[in-house]
Formats: sequence, C-alpha cells, structure tokens
Amino acid sequence: MSSEPVTPAPARKKRSSLRLDDASRTLLKRFMADWVWPRWREVVTTLALTTCLAAATGGYPTVIKMSFDKLMAGDKGGTLWWVLAAIIGITAIRATFLYFQAVATNHFVLRITTDMQKQAFAHLIAADFARLSRDTPGRLVSKLTNDVSFIQTALTSGLNSALRDSLSVLALVISMLYLDWMMTLVVLGVYPLAAIPVAMISDRLRRVAKRTQTELGDMTSMLTENLSGARLIKSFRLEDYAAAKLDGSFDQVFNLRMKAVKTRARLDPMLEALGGFAVAGVVAFAYLRISHGISTVGDFMGFITALLMAAQPIRALGNLAGRVHEGLVAAESVYGIIDEKASIIDKPGAKPLVVSKGAITFKNVGFAYEPANKERAVYDFSLDVPGGKTVALVGRSGAGKSTIVNLVPRLFDVTEGSISIDGQDLRDVTITSLRDNVSIVSQDITLFDDTIAANIALGRLSASHDEIIAAAKAAAAHDFIMAQPQGYQTVIGDRGGRLSGGQRQRLALARAILKDAPILLLDEATSALDTESEQLVQSALEKFTKNRTTLVIAHRLSTVQRADQICVMDAGYVVERGTHSELLANNGSYARLAGTVYAPQPAHAN
Ligand SMILES: Nc1ncnc2c1ncn2[C@@H]1O[C@H](COP(=O)(O)OP(=O)(O)O)[C@@H](O)[C@H]1O
Ligand SMILES: [Mg+2]
Repeated sequence: MSSEPVTPAPARKKRSSLRLDDASRTLLKRFMADWVWPRWREVVTTLALTTCLAAATGGYPTVIKMSFDKLMAGDKGGTLWWVLAAIIGITAIRATFLYFQAVATNHFVLRITTDMQKQAFAHLIAADFARLSRDTPGRLVSKLTNDVSFIQTALTSGLNSALRDSLSVLALVISMLYLDWMMTLVVLGVYPLAAIPVAMISDRLRRVAKRTQTELGDMTSMLTENLSGARLIKSFRLEDYAAAKLDGSFDQVFNLRMKAVKTRARLDPMLEALGGFAVAGVVAFAYLRISHGISTVGDFMGFITALLMAAQPIRALGNLAGRVHEGLVAAESVYGIIDEKASIIDKPGAKPLVVSKGAITFKNVGFAYEPANKERAVYDFSLDVPGGKTVALVGRSGAGKSTIVNLVPRLFDVTEGSISIDGQDLRDVTITSLRDNVSIVSQDITLFDDTIAANIALGRLSASHDEIIAAAKAAAAHDFIMAQPQGYQTVIGDRGGRLSGGQRQRLALARAILKDAPILLLDEATSALDTESEQLVQSALEKFTKNRTTLVIAHRLSTVQRADQICVMDAGYVVERGTHSELLANNGSYARLAGTVYAPQPAHAN
C-alpha cells in the first residue's frame, strides 16, 4: 500500500533520530537567526507570560491538596469559602495568562510568517523572468501559502510546547516533588521511555511532509490552471475530465495527510499507556503509604491532579518533534525561493542608460531558452533599428520574432552576441533605466482585476487621470471605456475577462502610450482588432511612433508596409530584409508571405 521511497536502514542507526541531522540543524539555526532572534523582545514577553501561566498551573494541585486537607479535617463553614475562593482565584489567574499568552504567541508567529511571505514574494517577483516562467504560478502560490502554514503550525506548537508545555511539566514536577518526592521518582522512572516512540515517528513524518508539500504544490497548480481555463473547459465540456484529474490530486493529498495523521496518532496511545502505568503505580504506592499513615489523601489527590495535568503537555511535547520536522521541510522550500540568485541583475558599476536617438543594434545575437542544448530560438541575428524609425519583424509563427522583442528589455539575456541601445551594451546599463526606456506590448496581455483606469495607470503609476484619458484616446480606447457601466472606474475582472480581445489590446496600448518611453516594442499588439478599430489605432500609433524607435511584429500588411525596414525571419534566422516594395520586387520569402499570410488584404495604398 505504501509507495513511500524506502530509506536505507543506516539512516536510523543511532538512537539520535530525536536529534536533528546536520542539515536540519543548520537550517534551524539559520531560521532562528533570520526570524526569531530579531524579535527576541517578543520571545521574552511570550516566555514571561508562559512562565506565569506555568506557575499558575503548578499552583493548582497545591490548592486542590489544601482544599482536601481542610475538607477532610471536617472544618466546614469558613473553610469552604476559603477553598472556593482559592480555586476560583487560581483559575482566574490561569485564564488571564492563557489569554495573553495565546495572543502573544500567535502575534509572534503570524508576524514571522507574514514577513516570510513578504520577503519570499518580493524576492520571487524580482527573480529572472525565466525562473518565474519555470514554475507554474500555482506551485509558487503553494510555497507561499501551504508551506508557510506548515511553518506557522510548527512555530506555534514549538513555542507552546517548548515554552508552555515544558515549563508546565517542570512546574508540575516541582509541585509533585513538593507533594511527594518519592512518588515523583516512580513517575520519572516511567516517562523517559516515551523518547523511543517519539524518535521513531519523527523520521517518518519528515518524509511524509516532503511529499505532502510537493503534492500540495501540484494540486494548487492544477486548481489554478483549471479554474483559469474555464472557457476551454466549458466549451469542450471537460468538466468531468477536470474534476477527475483534480479528484486524483485531492485524494493524493488526502492519503498523504492521513499517513501523517496515522503516524502522529500512533504516538498518543503509547504515551497514554505510559501515563496509565504511571497512574497505576502512583495509586498502588499511595495506597500503601496512606494506609500506613505516611501521607494524606490530600497529598494523593494533589499528586494525581498534577500527574493528570502533566499528561497533556507531555503528549504535546511528544508531538513536537514531528511538527518541527514538517516545519523544517517547509522552511527549506521557502528558503529555496529566498536563496535563488537572479542572473539578470545590474553589473557592478552599471550606469543608467542614456537614450539620445534610441537606436537599437542587434549584433550576431543567438539565443537559446535551454542553454544546455544546441538548438537556438534565434541564430546570428543582426539588425540595426535606427533611432526614431520603425522596423517590422515578420515571419511564420515560431520564427523567433517574440524572442527578439523579449531580449530588448532583458527579460532574457542573449546567449551569444550583443544588443545595444545608442552604443551601450544592455548588460552594462542598469536594468531599471533600461526598462524605463522601453515600452512593450506583448502578445499575451496582462490585465489585473482592478479598474480600467488603474490598469492603464500601470504604464506610469504617477500619471494623472487626465493623462490616463489622453492615453486611452490615443489608443482609440476612450469610446468603449465610456460605454462601460462605470466608465474608467469599471472593474474588469480577473485578467480582464469581461473585455473583448480587441478591447484588451487597446488598453495595453494605452498603457504603453502612457509610459511614453522612447523605445516601443509591439508584439502583435493589434492582431485582435477589427479592421475599423485597427485603422483608428493605426493612425493614433502613427502619431505616437513618429519619433520613437519602434520594433513591430505584425501580420497585417497595412501595419507592416509602412515600416522603414522589414526584416523577415524564418526558423530563427533572418532570411530577407528591405522595404515593402523592395521585398515584393525581390519575390522571395516576403512576397510569399504576403501572398499567403496577408492574402485576405490586398495591398492598398494607405
Ligand atoms: N519560454 C520558452 N521556452 C522554450 N522555448 C520557447 C519559449 N518561448 C518560445 N520558445 C520557442 O522559441 C521559438 C521561437 O518562438 P517565438 O519567438 O515565440 O516565435 P514567434 O514569436 O516568431 O512566433 C519557437 O520554436 C518556440 O517554440
Ligand atoms: Mg510571437
């Protein structure tokens, strides 16, 4: 039944599985140094509250003992009030400390996990584009939510157990020693045996935790994928298929979680049984001693109370090892994100890009998405885009056009050759200055679940409302925006789901226009527009691109033929270049493309 990978037996050769291995210890130390130590004040507060709570807990059996002693002495009346007051008093103190201890502990834990999320997200979003595209969003979401919640559980039980439970046990043991030290030694003889089952389960829990967290990542990934593919799933009637796929994943997580539960659950009966032996021993011992008049029923009752009260914190301590292991596995995964080094970063001494004309020069550029293999998406690509001019890239899909465009803002770095703007190699300038000077409207448009105005403003966050409207007008988007229920304040739904393809493209254009960068990259930015809005957008763009360096990928002849130069690509190579009329006269690839791809639109003077 178990598909768990068999770990070689020597892993458990020592009885030290209770202790952490070197890697875990290093990780734990680092975690403490990074997150716990900076909040040592809070730790001290929590510790102090926990100590008070434990002290109050430790006092409880003594109150019980005293009550019984008074009651057995037959001194009714005044004594009863004293006893009741003492019981209520000590429980009230305990209740108060319980509240503050719980709030302090959870504040500390939530603060740490929230800060971890912030740091991991900030790191992740600053990572290389290639890194972000490598994992599905769902898997990354899972690291920042599920894995962090494992850390949260581990920290909470760590703090509760390490402080509250161990101090409670300590206080109860002290109180037991005070009540009857001989009986206490009997009990202390039994409990160390608990270390054996604890060690056995924590190893297994760690292995299950690793697989659970991976599986949770897969599940989240599948969930986000299927929910965001709702259109496909509906129209192809894939509901059952999607549900079956996710059922499998849910069940997998269920099985792993149950495995952890069962492993953990094995411990409690063992500890319970040990507790039973301890209580039985104590009862037998007490019987002898009370019948000989050595100790009182009060002593016994107090002692039993202490012992029973200790059972719960002892069980929690027993479970701590497993929790810590689960938390460490999760911390490793979050650290995996934090430690990842971006490769597209500013060189030491990188200078801001200075754009004078905005000329882009590609020099023998080669690029491979997988540097390991020989195959390139682009081979030996050389092109001069003169400042202020428009160059069009055309070619079949998969030719490498988008790749070229993505290299300009350094979403990826070239594998061979170089790209420079006004003579400055892109790798020698700061990334912020480079990206500030480049606007890109890509094939897949990203819109957030926010208002239309906010989505356009992403182009320049400081833009005023009037500037946003002006940009929308320049992108021929103003009219359809005004037709929306709340105009610019209309919320457009997740990824702009409530807009048509052409409307989304015009918003993306408005965003780029608002950014007002000297270099404009348009990757099939008008492909989804109908002929009428295309013409509107074209004339708007013509004004906008007039003195701007523009690299445009388009399939429509009307967009391409106006370009100062056209570069035809095929299978990663440049196969032809020239102006529209030169290329038509050449009667080569471009003419063929124009005859096929552009067939529906005969060349019209425009
Ligand atoms: N993220 C990616 N990872 C790996 N290969 C990619 C990636 N994006 C594109 N490719 C590959 O690179 C080649 C060029 O793609 P692309 O530049 O998108 O072509 P075009 O825009 O001309 O259609 C294609 O063979 C494509 O499969
Ligand atoms: Mg493309």
